[in-house]
Amino acid sequence: MSLFDRPFDSAGEAALVTGAGNGIGRAIAQALVGEGVRTVFADVNGDTVTAAIKASARPELAMPWVGDLADPAAREALLAESGKVLGRVTHFVHSASPPRRESDHALGVTPEIWARMHAVNLEAGFHLCRELAQKLIADNEAGSFLLLTSLHASTPRNLPHYSTAKAGLSMLVKELAKTFGRFGIRVNALVPGAIAAGGFVADPALARHIPLGRLGDANDLAPLALAVLSNRISGYVTGAAIVVDGGLSLTNWFEPPELGEM
Ligand SMILES: NC(=O)c1ccc[n+]([C@@H]2O[C@H](COP(=O)([O-])OP(=O)(O)OC[C@H]3O[C@@H](n4cnc5c(N)ncnc54)[C@H](O)[C@@H]3O)[C@@H](O)[C@H]2O)c1
Repeated sequence: MSLFDRPFDSAGEAALVTGAGNGIGRAIAQALVGEGVRTVFADVNGDTVTAAIKASARPELAMPWVGDLADPAAREALLAESGKVLGRVTHFVHSASPPRRESDHALGVTPEIWARMHAVNLEAGFHLCRELAQKLIADNEAGSFLLLTSLHASTPRNLPHYSTAKAGLSMLVKELAKTFGRFGIRVNALVPGAIAAGGFVADPALARHIPLGRLGDANDLAPLALAVLSNRISGYVTGAAIVVDGGLSLTNWFEPPELGEM
């Protein structure tokens, strides 16, 4: 058997991916079922979940879940449903995040948009990680969690609700990795650059700032996500932030926001 053969144990391991209806979450969820991992595709958008599962290599291994992760009751429902259909969730990917709009700069963002960004990213991320970890600890089973953060966890994006939510998630990865390590549960961050997916309407001109010369695609993230999730490949990796950005973070490319008439 070569090093990269069978990165997952299809019998004992199963995954939950949030934001699986689109973009990076969809690419990771589809890649997981492609590796034979039973996976819950969770998203607020039922149509995109159905389409993502249909387009998977092995739709029979994919289970849909539709709900709004800003709502604490929906998080409980997701945990209950995932436990029911998968038995045990050993691998968790948190990719769900509300859309970013340039008009939500520091003088434009409303309290509702601020709260929703934090609820879906940080509060849902913490709650789902903690509950899934508690179950794994009780069952004496290993786990691997991957949270989607951003380069803007450490550099401003002109979207303070987004950058602060991602900064919180980035610290959450470190907190959880430190606490859960003794139980064999690894927690890492995947840090995308400019990825032409649903959450980021990319100006193609941005490519000139990217050393590898192009914007990223969701499928640029999936192979590394699987490598970090795999206990066979990355069993000694936790608390890490894995950057997949074509070298974009070597530059600082954003101008201050357009504020309009003052
Ligand atoms: N695309 C990029 O360039 C980029 C860069 C840095 C970080 N990221 C992060 O990567 C992750 C995925 O980004 P993407 O570009 O694929 O985004 P996307 O918008 O394509 O996908 C996000 C998914 O989350 C779902 N979602 C939104 N709100 C939800 C809610 N309340 N409950 C459940 N699901 C909800 C959406 O329906 C969507 O399917 C996000 O966390 C994003 O912040 C993306």
